[in-house]
Amino acid sequence: MNDDERVFWFSYIENTLGLQLPAIQQRRFEVVLLECMNQLQLDSEQLLVRLQNDPAVWAKLIDQLAITETQFFRHLPSYDLVKGFLESCPESVRMWSAGCSSGEEVWSLAMLATELEKDFQIIATDLSGAALSKAQQAVYTERKIQYLTRQRQERFLEASSERAGCYRVNESLKKTVSFFQHNLTDEQGLPLRQIDLIFCQNVLIYFRGFMQRDILNRLFETLRPGGVLVLGPSEAASWKHPLAERVKHAGALAYIKKAKTVKDVA
Ligand SMILES: C[S@@+](CC[C@H](N)C(=O)[O-])C[C@H]1O[C@@H](n2cnc3c(N)ncnc32)[C@H](O)[C@@H]1O
Repeated sequence: MNDDERVFWFSYIENTLGLQLPAIQQRRFEVVLLECMNQLQLDSEQLLVRLQNDPAVWAKLIDQLAITETQFFRHLPSYDLVKGFLESCPESVRMWSAGCSSGEEVWSLAMLATELEKDFQIIATDLSGAALSKAQQAVYTERKIQYLTRQRQERFLEASSERAGCYRVNESLKKTVSFFQHNLTDEQGLPLRQIDLIFCQNVLIYFRGFMQRDILNRLFETLRPGGVLVLGPSEAASWKHPLAERVKHAGALAYIKKAKTVKDVA
């Protein structure tokens, strides 16, 4: 691939998906593109046309591009904050895991809410169909579940009958989650309202500042007053919104949505 093509493809990905690929990912993406061209017997221009007209080819490319690294209870101070928030919530809670990858984050939230005996529902979204399908299957290796306490493993997991040495999340937890494929850069957003808690970690790091701001504004729209948006500790810390107030919690980055006052409406 020549330099012009490289520049074209990296900016195409940024414009369509918002992703600003770090250097190491750029190299990986180039390899993915070249393999794709090779397989389909297309040159760079022909591949572009194909991607724009064939959702299956586009979806496959996205799956190969997505950085889906995740783990159960990945950032403990954030889950500690969520625990406190859930304890203060009315009985029924709606949560959104935005950029849920293969589901570990979703099941961590579900485990926490179950332990607190909450009546809850989780909406889980991701750009990658492959990641979502893993999240829905909810089958994890021994290595993956090492981040769960023995107690949680025993309460929420059972040995998989199909995959030796793997564990699957039990059905009662699975019933609490609805999965949707969704691109956070989509200006229309999802038709969600009155969400109590949004958990969006390790997604925004790949976006430029203005994209982060637009996404955060859209996410915030869907929260109820008093609802909380939890981000990764070093993500978009400079974001400002007239109704957003920083939650004071050691090691975590979160914003609570204030109720609108007459001054805000005027
Ligand atoms: C590194 S994983 C983070 C997973 C999880 N939130 C965590 O913190 O462990 C990033 C996820 O964001 C998703 N993602 C990237 N760009 C996205 C976009 N524009 N819209 C929705 N999801 C996106 C990727 O597919 C990937 O699954």
